[in-house]
Amino acid sequence: MSAVERKTRRREVVVTADAWTRSLGHESTLDDVTPITRVRALRRKRRHAKAEPPILVGDLVASKYRIERVLGYGDMGLVVAARHLQLGFLVAIKFMRPEAQSESRAARFFREARAVARLRGEHTARITDYGSPDGGAPYIVMEHLEGIDLKALVQRRGKLPIEEAVGYLIDACKAMDEAHRVGIVHRDLKPKNLFLTHRPDGTPLVKVLDFGISKLTETAEDEHASSTESGSILGSPGFMSPEQIRDSKQVDARSDIYGLGAVLYYLLANDYPFSAISVSDLLEKILHEPPHSLRDRRPDVPAAIEAIVSRCLQKDPSDRYPNVKELMDALRGALEQKEQPSTVLRDGVVGARLPAVVLMASVAMGALLARCAPYSACMFRDFAVRATSSAP
Ligand SMILES: Nc1ncnc2c1ncn2[C@@H]1O[C@H](COP(=O)(O)OP(=O)(O)OP(=O)(O)O)[C@@H](O)[C@H]1O
Ligand SMILES: [Mg+2]
Repeated sequence: MSAVERKTRRREVVVTADAWTRSLGHESTLDDVTPITRVRALRRKRRHAKAEPPILVGDLVASKYRIERVLGYGDMGLVVAARHLQLGFLVAIKFMRPEAQSESRAARFFREARAVARLRGEHTARITDYGSPDGGAPYIVMEHLEGIDLKALVQRRGKLPIEEAVGYLIDACKAMDEAHRVGIVHRDLKPKNLFLTHRPDGTPLVKVLDFGISKLTETAEDEHASSTESGSILGSPGFMSPEQIRDSKQVDARSDIYGLGAVLYYLLANDYPFSAISVSDLLEKILHEPPHSLRDRRPDVPAAIEAIVSRCLQKDPSDRYPNVKELMDALRGALEQKEQPSTVLRDGVVGARLPAVVLMASVAMGALLARCAPYSACMFRDFAVRATSSAP
C-alpha cells in the first residue's frame, strides 16, 4: 500500500469508526422519541466509543466485496456500500453490532434472510448473501439502492403531498402483501425502512428494507433489553403497535398494518401519532390513548384518508384492516375519491360526456346562426351598400 493510499485509508477508517460509534449510540431510533432519551443515547455513545468498528473501508468481505463507504447506521448496526470484485456492481452490507451478536440470534438473522430472499416483488429490497466470519460481525448482503429513505425525505421536504404519500404507502403495502402471504411479519415498519428509489426507466418506487430483521432484537432472550427502561428499547417505539409493546412474540400481520398506518401518518403530518416526554410516557400513550388527530396537524387530508389511518392505528388488532389487501383497496378508493374533481374534466364521468355536450352546443349554435343568417346577410348587404355609397 502506497503512502498516499495509507493516508486516505486512515482518514476513511476514522469516518467508519465514528459511524460505528454513532450506531452504538442508537441515535437514529432515539431520534424518534424525545430529547431526554437522546441525552441518554449520547452517554451510551461515549461508553461505547472505544468499541472496535466491525469493518474498515477498503476491507474485503467474503473475499468478494470491497467496502467503499458507510451508508448509515441503525439499531442493528452499520450499513456500508461495497463493490463485488468480479462483477463490479455495488451491494449494501449490513453488519450486526457487537451487543446484538449471539449464536442463536445470528442463526435467526440468517433464517429470516433466507425467507426474505424468496420474496420476488419489486417493492422488497433483495437479499443476495449473508455470512458470519470467524470472530467477526455477522452480515447480510442486499441490493444497493440509489435514493433516499422516507424519513430523510420528510426531514428534507416536510409534509408530503397527499397523492405522493399514499402512493408510497401503496408500494409498501404491495411488499407486505407478498410477505404476509408467506407468513413473514416485518415488525419494524418505519419511514427509515422504506426506501425511495427509481426503476431503470426513471419511474419512482418504494422498497421495503430490513424484513424480519427486527425480530432478532425482540425475542424472548432480549426481553430485558427491550424493557420499558428509557433508552434501551430496540425497535422504533414511535411506530410500534400496542400488542408489540405488550408482547413482541405475539404479533401478527395486523401489527404491520398498524406500522403502515403510523408511517402514512408521519409522511402526511411530518410528526408522530403520539407525542411524549419520555419512552415510558410514549408507550403508555400508545397503549391507552387515542393518537393526535391527523387533520389537526394536516387540515387538507381528506376525511377518507384520516379514517383509514385511524383504522390502522386501532388498539385492538381486530378493529384494524384484516389484511394489507383491504388496506390497499381502501387507499386506492380514497385516492380516486380525492381525484374526482380534477379527473371529471380530463377523463372521468363528465369527461366521457364532454364530446356530447360540445356537440349539442355546436348544434344549438348552428341553428341560431341559420336563423340569424338572413339578417346577417341583410346587415352585411346594408353595410356593403353604405360603404360603397359613402365611397368618394
Ligand atoms: N440496501 C440499501 N441501499 C442503500 N442504502 C441503504 C440500504 N440499507 C440501508 N441503507 C441506508 O443505511 C441507513 C441505515 O440503515 P439501518 O437499517 O441500519 O437503519 P435503521 O433502519 O434505523 O435501523 P434498523 O433497521 O436496524 O432498526 C438507512 O437509513 C439507509 O439510508
Ligand atoms: Mg433499517
